[in-house]
Amino acid sequence: MALANLQKTLGIRAKFITMLAALGMVALLGIGYGAYTFSLRNAMHEAETKARIIDAYIKASRAYFMSVQRPLISELVEKDRFYPEIMSGFGITRRTVDMIDAEQLKGFQFRQVSTTPHHPPDKADKFEQDLINKFKADPKKVELVGTTLRNSELYFYTSRPIRMEGKGCLQCHLDPAQAPKDLVEVYGTAGFDAKYKDGDIFAAYVVYVPLAPAVAAAKQQALLLFAAGATMMLLGLLFIYVFLDQRIVKPIMELSSRTEEVSVGRNLDKSLMSSKMKDEVETLARSIDRLRISLVKMLKRRKNE
Ligand code: HEC
Repeated sequence: MALANLQKTLGIRAKFITMLAALGMVALLGIGYGAYTFSLRNAMHEAETKARIIDAYIKASRAYFMSVQRPLISELVEKDRFYPEIMSGFGITRRTVDMIDAEQLKGFQFRQVSTTPHHPPDKADKFEQDLINKFKADPKKVELVGTTLRNSELYFYTSRPIRMEGKGCLQCHLDPAQAPKDLVEVYGTAGFDAKYKDGDIFAAYVVYVPLAPAVAAAKQQALLLFAAGATMMLLGLLFIYVFLDQRIVKPIMELSSRTEEVSVGRNLDKSLMSSKMKDEVETLARSIDRLRISLVKMLKRRKNE
């Protein structure tokens, strides 16, 4: 009821402007949301590319170490001696990654996680243990990709399984008695598991790329777009309001009051037209003015009869 009354009392300007503002608002919200999801998707794509570059580089340097450097090092180093700094691919990668400047790192992380690690910080957390379990449950799976929260920060991650590949791996991870003495001396015996078998998936590589800055940038972009759109819309509406006021409402009101005067016999000889009346309003005014002229002629004829 109240709305119907309001509708009746609102003039053409207010109705038109309200309608346009509502439509504009819907469009702006749509554009803002669209921009947000679009930049978020882009950020995700970028994060995936970064993660894959990091992963590919580490994979290649590991392959080089395994096929070229390690055989040579084994030949040169005395049997039973073990220097993790030059003899463990995982150890070398870990030490290299640890050296990446924190400023360049910007929250990115590369981890080689295991249920029973030699290097305690490599212990898989709950999320990483879930990844290892998923790889175990589906040994054909070559990678897992997605987003996750770490310390309530959003990250994009890629992950690959690590399996025991032959006696080489088992020698250093299965039984302290079989491992090089130096290894046990440096790392202790906590990182061994007698249940390991050749081919077991027991660890995983995980690359984390932070998404929080990208999400913040996407939000800011969407807000900026929304604010710019809203300002343009307001200016547009103001322009339309003034236009409607000057070109339609005021001329019609003038025509209306002049027609009312004529209807009560006042100012019968004055034209109804004015310079403000343009376009369709001018046509309407001309028609009504013709009516006035006919009326005046009719009245004169009546008087003469
Ligand atoms: C000569 C001994 C040796 C051999 C052979 C070896 N590792 Fe290791 N591995 C280590 C040591 C030592 C570390 C800890 C390195 C560090 O300081 O981060 C390690 C670390 C790891 C880690 C990281 C988790 C952890 O335990 O800290 C994984 C995963 C791993 N090794 C898997 C393998 C696989 C798979 C192979 C076979 C392809 C293999 N290792 C062969 C000694 C060895």
